Amino acid sequence: MTLLELVDVTAAYGPVQVLESVSLEVPEGGAVGILGANGAGKTTTLRAISGTVRTGGKISFDGRDIRGLGPDKVAALGIAHVPEGRGTLGQLTVRENLRVGAYLRKDRKAIAADIDYCLDLFPNLQARIGSSAAALSGGEQQMLAVGRAFMAKPRLLLLDEASLGLAPSTAKLVYEAIGRLRKESGIAMLIVEQNANLAFSLVDTATVLETGRNALTGTSAELKGMDEIRRAYLGG
Ligand SMILES: Nc1ncnc2c1ncn2[C@@H]1O[C@H](COP(=O)(O)OP(=O)(O)O)[C@@H](O)[C@H]1O
Ligand SMILES: [Mg+2]
Repeated sequence: MTLLELVDVTAAYGPVQVLESVSLEVPEGGAVGILGANGAGKTTTLRAISGTVRTGGKISFDGRDIRGLGPDKVAALGIAHVPEGRGTLGQLTVRENLRVGAYLRKDRKAIAADIDYCLDLFPNLQARIGSSAAALSGGEQQMLAVGRAFMAKPRLLLLDEASLGLAPSTAKLVYEAIGRLRKESGIAMLIVEQNANLAFSLVDTATVLETGRNALTGTSAELKGMDEIRRAYLGG
């Protein structure tokens, strides 16, 4: 069952066309990667889905056309976006950030249980629960950003360069937790990642973007075996 489908999606910032034609599918509960060099259009693809850039083509979620819906409506349908740069609310505490993630929910008991789950998933946050987000390390902020997105109980998580700026061991920790979240929650994931080793540890399939188009699409195993992928993304 396809949850998210993009067919020949275009996107532009004002007069500047950035996506020429991007197609991809995320199955229900699946994890799909988007790889590509700086400026290829990875972030813009996520923004096209979450409704923060002008788009053409077809974008459907759960069988429904969502292209052109605003970001609030897209979020309410069950798509949570963890943006590049994390987007946590610096003045608010860890707990408050997690509560903000659940702002559309009314189920108070379940919200409390989900906060406990976040703290179990990211034990580093436990000791920091009352600290302001701005005081956290980069890795802790990334954990909080993922936790906050989870608190919305989405059906699809959009994740933009979760490893950016993190020490390799921290990035690995973050991805292991995301892998556990995927297994335990069944939330589908669309993951933009420059670190292909991390991406391939999590996703089933991936697409490589080049200047706003799909250059290659395949399973993780297929892509890992390709010379051009090894050279460009896997360091050999
Ligand atoms: N707000 C913007 N206004 C104009 N051009 C932008 C804007 N954001 C990104 N771009 C351009 O769009 C292209 C794709 O950017 P982006 O989607 O951020 O790439 P990636 O995430 O793959 O690095 C780049 O050439 C970038 O300069
Ligand atoms: Mg980007």
